Amino acid sequence: MINLIIPAAGSGSRFSEKTPKQFVKIQGIEILEMNLLTWINIKLVDKIYLVLPQLEFEYNKNKYQKLSNKIIPIIGGSSRAESINNAIKILDNKNPYTLIHDGARPFVTNILIKRVIEALKIHNAIIPALKLTNTIKKVKNNQIINTINRENLISVQTPQGFHTNIIKKAYSNINLKNINFDDSELVENIKEQVFYIEGEKNNIKITTQNDLDYAEFLIQKYFKK
Ligand code: CTP
Ligand code: MG
Repeated sequence: MINLIIPAAGSGSRFSEKTPKQFVKIQGIEILEMNLLTWINIKLVDKIYLVLPQLEFEYNKNKYQKLSNKIIPIIGGSSRAESINNAIKILDNKNPYTLIHDGARPFVTNILIKRVIEALKIHNAIIPALKLTNTIKKVKNNQIINTINRENLISVQTPQGFHTNIIKKAYSNINLKNINFDDSELVENIKEQVFYIEGEKNNIKITTQNDLDYAEFLIQKYFKK
């Protein structure tokens, strides 16, 4: 079976609301709950390590445990990496694959999840990503330095999938504070190859208030349950 880590312990500083964005409701559905409802129905995933903020941990722990007995609540840390590391430490080593998916990315689909899992039969580490469509330029102090060839650039999403032993190795020995890194980058750092599959355009991460309008549109058009 498969482990899943959902980091949902952030405070959402770019979202600028008192409530962390994962707990905000769109069209009456909480972002994190919408996300979890998709994962709970994936039969192959039997352990969901749900990383939650320390603040009001007991309340949230009880709330989410009621959703499914697959959910294992864990207290998060001060960085995303620290939050994930708290789950990595207690992962079920018997499960050969471990997926990591942002709590603030509620529009993940069964199809994307299955494609990531399928690719793990061939590769040690797999990430969904999109080719860039806009022209990309490097800048310094509002001035253009140069234009980058976008042919070789991708924009990365989650769920990212890893062989459990590989992600454990990647997370051992890292400095968890002050570093903003992506999980697959840690795998690159231990010289393991990471491959990508096509992501999904609607698989957005709620980051700023602006994302809410678009999220509302997506629920109405594609995701109304
Ligand atoms: N996350 C976490 N623990 C942290 C920081 C982030 O579990 N200490 C989680 C967030 O809850 C989110 C995911 O990692 O589901 C992606 O992070 P991001 O979008 O950056 O969320 P925040 O860190 O909460 O937002 P911001 O960077 O704007 O503060
Ligand atoms: Mg963040």
